[in-house]
Amino acid sequence: MKTHLSAVLKEFTAPAAISVEEKQTEQPAGGQLLLAMSAAPINPADLNVLEGKYGELPELPAVVGNEGAGRVLAVGEGVEGFSVGDLVLPMQRGTWTQRMLVPAESAIRLPASIDEKQAAMLSVNPATALRLLRTVTELKEGDWVLQNAANSGVGRSVIQLSKILGFKTLSVVRREDAAVELRELGGDAVILEEDDLREAVKANCGKNRPKLGLNSVGGTSAVNLANGLANGGTLVTFGAMGRQPVKIPNAMLIFRDLRFTGFWLTRWVKGAPQAEKQALYQELAGYVCEGRLRQPVAGVYPLRELAKALDAAAAERRGGKVLLDLSEGIA
Ligand SMILES: NC(=O)c1ccc[n+]([C@@H]2O[C@H](COP(=O)([O-])OP(=O)(O)OC[C@H]3O[C@@H](n4cnc5c(N)ncnc54)[C@H](OP(=O)(O)O)[C@@H]3O)[C@@H](O)[C@H]2O)c1
Repeated sequence: MKTHLSAVLKEFTAPAAISVEEKQTEQPAGGQLLLAMSAAPINPADLNVLEGKYGELPELPAVVGNEGAGRVLAVGEGVEGFSVGDLVLPMQRGTWTQRMLVPAESAIRLPASIDEKQAAMLSVNPATALRLLRTVTELKEGDWVLQNAANSGVGRSVIQLSKILGFKTLSVVRREDAAVELRELGGDAVILEEDDLREAVKANCGKNRPKLGLNSVGGTSAVNLANGLANGGTLVTFGAMGRQPVKIPNAMLIFRDLRFTGFWLTRWVKGAPQAEKQALYQELAGYVCEGRLRQPVAGVYPLRELAKALDAAAAERRGGKVLLDLSEGIA
């Protein structure tokens, strides 16, 4: 019987009560794919899950991890459209594992030419960025978008996708080295948290004030973004990196008619038809293959070094994503 390694969470605590365990590898049942996982990132939401502070938690013990990419190792009876060797997005939780059984009906097949590490980071952050730009409010070419924590995976995707879609970005970060990086990436305007955002809007956007603000920090940073929006504009909150609530001044609602809303990709993944998801991920994968969309990698760790990888992922001022290499030490 073949075995593989999986990261198993036993208890919701900080620091994480998670261990790497050897498990038996099962063959796929009808309708399933067996994946040899290539890589999986550690995202802020994963760290929240380990602590038991997330919108949806697994029953424990559980193999955790919310995204990744893997190659088809075996195809269950009745499955069509997948072949051994295809690279796929599992679209299921439990990705921090070397072998994974997934229902074929929800898996997404990727183009053969895509980089495996970029593929492993495709299903959450770039998809969030594209949905935020396309579905929260109607934007036309030349419109400006405001965002904070803009050097995050989502923020970098927002900048790159805005270039493709014809929008302009005014990005806020909390350190100068990140600002320099984002200008090089194509950010139209990049400022620091302590800079005057209203002045930056005036100087860069003129009368074409931003209709959309993307907030993943909360607290003062969120209110600053709202201050920069056009009357009637929308601030969408999709993250809470600063762990402070969004306190909305009354005047923003009464006199400026600003809209405040939230976004959770999980809601879309659960509710959208498979064809819609296929289309979105084929579009994103295409941009990756063309070299127009990429996320930097701060470090790659074998699954056996999960504790080290978790420490690296929890560190601030990271230069990109921390990835788990799930292929190491397995035949
Ligand atoms: N709702 C959804 O569907 C959805 C989907 C995807 C992501 N998200 C959320 O979006 C956020 C970004 O995710 P990601 O994976 O793109 O992030 P990431 O690549 O891990 O980057 C984290 C970002 O947060 C900043 N940051 C960390 N601590 C902060 C603090 N205390 N105050 C202000 N900024 C802070 C970091 O700045 P430094 O580099 O300066 O440390 C960096 O810009 C997270 O909150 C995540 O949960 C939500």
